[in-house]
Amino acid sequence: GEMEKVNTNIVTLTRFLTEEQVKHQEATGDFTLLCHALQFSFKQIAYYIRRATLVNLTGLAGSSNTTGDDQKKLDVISNDLFIEIMRSSGKCALVVSEEEENIIYFKDASDARYAVACDPIDGSSNLDAGVSVGTIFAIHKLEQGSTGKQEDILKPGTELIAAGFTMYGASAQLVITMKGGTVNGFTLDNGVGEFILTHPNMRIPKKRAIYSVNEGNSLYWEDNIKKYFNSLKELQEDGKPYSSRYIGSMVADAYRTLLYGGIFAYPADKKSPKGKLRILYECAPMAMVFENAGGQAVDSHMNRMMEIVPEHIHDKAGIFMGSYDEVEKVKSFCKN
Ligand code: AHG
Ligand code: MN
Ligand code: MN
Ligand code: MN
Repeated sequence: GEMEKVNTNIVTLTRFLTEEQVKHQEATGDFTLLCHALQFSFKQIAYYIRRATLVNLTGLAGSSNTTGDDQKKLDVISNDLFIEIMRSSGKCALVVSEEEENIIYFKDASDARYAVACDPIDGSSNLDAGVSVGTIFAIHKLEQGSTGKQEDILKPGTELIAAGFTMYGASAQLVITMKGGTVNGFTLDNGVGEFILTHPNMRIPKKRAIYSVNEGNSLYWEDNIKKYFNSLKELQEDGKPYSSRYIGSMVADAYRTLLYGGIFAYPADKKSPKGKLRILYECAPMAMVFENAGGQAVDSHMNRMMEIVPEHIHDKAGIFMGSYDEVEKVKSFCKN
């Protein structure tokens, strides 16, 4: 039959990163090499997730992490893999991970200028059900003379050099953005093991009648947040209420919101006064992606998420992120 038409006009992540580097003549190549290590970790984690049910890698590891989550075997394996790949890159001086109580500092890479905050498996409670999960990352530039102290990475999202996530869904989708740059989506071609640019310059729709929140917490929401979500259930100008979509993996809910538009929320509430999602490796990287795609991200006080400074490496915040107009709507219910 007809030869599968090979698309020769492809941009691989490798080419994309090299073209980015060439744009900055002062670049040393360290950032590029760090990103190559990151992409290698995503390929490895994708491999283990795809095989988890086949090689009994689902289920609990029997331990729990600092924020009290029961760790899945894949949480632990992905975390260990990620840390070792960052260490061996020689371009990362320290790692903050959801699965590590303290900062991981690489003494023999103390001259490296980058730090990475990471959620190795986001949505891991969904793993055994075969639902999409992901890895979220945030890249910080360390000041000269940093010695791997908490303060070195307790910075607002506005100082991030790059951020993004890889969602392990029907295929592995990598979304990455650089400071002040565009948002670009890559799909892992398993046949050749390359991330291919499939979603150049992603822009989130200005509005969309989709909301994404765990309604099971509505009993604990502040009154103005209850009013906001109830207003979405009324008939809108187009004569229809909003549609509800909640997967329970932030990465999957975020990826859909980025592509389709709408609002994703994990509000701080009476049960969790600082919310559930962690600033360094969930809220801030996602906020950078959403802002660079033309959307917004705010905390439960309607402060711009990118300006929030975490008090400790596992600090949390309530979050509302999505289409520009949808976040404006939340603000209109919360201005105090
Ligand atoms: P993680 O699996 O990395 O601990 O993150 C889970 C988070 C996030 O992925 C998701 O949005 C949220 O937990 C879902 O929480 P609820 O089950 O309370 O809705
Ligand atoms: Mn967890
Ligand atoms: Mn997470
Ligand atoms: Mn996680």
